[in-house]
Amino acid sequence: MPNIELRHLTKKFANFTAVDDLSINIDDGDFITLLGPSGCGKTTTLRQIAGLETPTSGEILIDGKVMFSSNKLVDVPPSQRGVGFLFQNYALWPHMTVWQNIAFGLENLKWPKDKIDARVKELLALLRIEEFPNRYPAELSGGQQQRVAIARTLATNPRILLMDEPLSNLDAKLRMEMRAELKRLHHETGATFVYVTHDQLEAMTLATKICLLKNGKLQQYAPPLEVYARPANTFVADFVGSPSINLVDAVVNSVDGKKVMLKMDGYEASMEMGEAFKNVEKGKAKIGIRPEYIALGEEGVPAKVLSSLPSGMETIVHLELHARLNLTCVVFGQKDYAVGEELRVSFPTSHCMLFDADGRMCGLGKLTFC
Ligand SMILES: Nc1ncnc2c1ncn2[C@@H]1O[C@H](COP(=O)(O)OP(=O)(O)OP(=O)(O)O)[C@@H](O)[C@H]1O
Ligand SMILES: [Mg+2]
Repeated sequence: MPNIELRHLTKKFANFTAVDDLSINIDDGDFITLLGPSGCGKTTTLRQIAGLETPTSGEILIDGKVMFSSNKLVDVPPSQRGVGFLFQNYALWPHMTVWQNIAFGLENLKWPKDKIDARVKELLALLRIEEFPNRYPAELSGGQQQRVAIARTLATNPRILLMDEPLSNLDAKLRMEMRAELKRLHHETGATFVYVTHDQLEAMTLATKICLLKNGKLQQYAPPLEVYARPANTFVADFVGSPSINLVDAVVNSVDGKKVMLKMDGYEASMEMGEAFKNVEKGKAKIGIRPEYIALGEEGVPAKVLSSLPSGMETIVHLELHARLNLTCVVFGQKDYAVGEELRVSFPTSHCMLFDADGRMCGLGKLTFC
């Protein structure tokens, strides 16, 4: 049984629709990331699950029980939904020690003292902050404060943990560390995590499934690698992956079975489509090529190096095939290229993407320039 079900969830502020008919099932033990650009409705969605925002219409079920229903006039208060939440401004109580901060919620629930002590100890160990139970928040680093905040949220053992950009105040290195910690924590607690972020890398690395929103509308709900390799549309394709995918305008001239003949900015090309190919109409289309799908070498069409950015593990190369067709490519390993160097490019994978005139995915295939 899914742990959380959103059915036709819609939230309007006056006549502006912040969340638009969102229906997803979140399974028990999943780590879901709500991803999308600023203002797409991530926080609003999370707050509705928590019960902090009243939906305009739709239903929210947790463990099969109706938490909100506009039709049945049900609206269970936040404290009775069995969820823990952690928001961006997780402010710890400055006048309380680490220990007191974590114990606070349990004291409110009138747990006996020995049980509180045992639970706080357990959390200090789980979050690797055993060394400083008696320090005050001001005496901790950002990452340590963050861990105390997480421990405080976990204290009551919520089966569902809702988090809104909890790492956004941290520097890059600490964020990386905390991501690994969160993944470990997810594994160890077995809880369901719903995590808001606008950082595609964070969403990719943490999630069992990504829920990608744009203007309050669901774009795709799938495991990260599926979102990456088989994006539902050009918006999704462009939103995930760094460096960004190459999206090239094309015109489909003919379709013969699984062979699509097209013109790409002056080049005649063809695509041999794989399984699950949804037929494409003749006319405007877009080709999506991930930077690592491009091979540089002796084969293929001529190209000139515009810039080369080696970072040790990989090199990002900007190429010009001709005046209007530029491609970004990633070469793994320690390689560098001279500006102006002439090379050839080819597309050896069968993962290039074909999108229709409306930007919807038609399928993956092997791209060849004629
Ligand atoms: N109380 C409100 N009244 C009116 N409009 C609101 C209210 N809360 C949110 N909105 C609007 O709803 C939209 C979605 O807001 P939301 O906070 O969910 O975005 P978000 O995806 O979390 O963005 P960010 O990444 O910037 O945090 C935004 O356009 C926002 O301006
Ligand atoms: Mg937000």
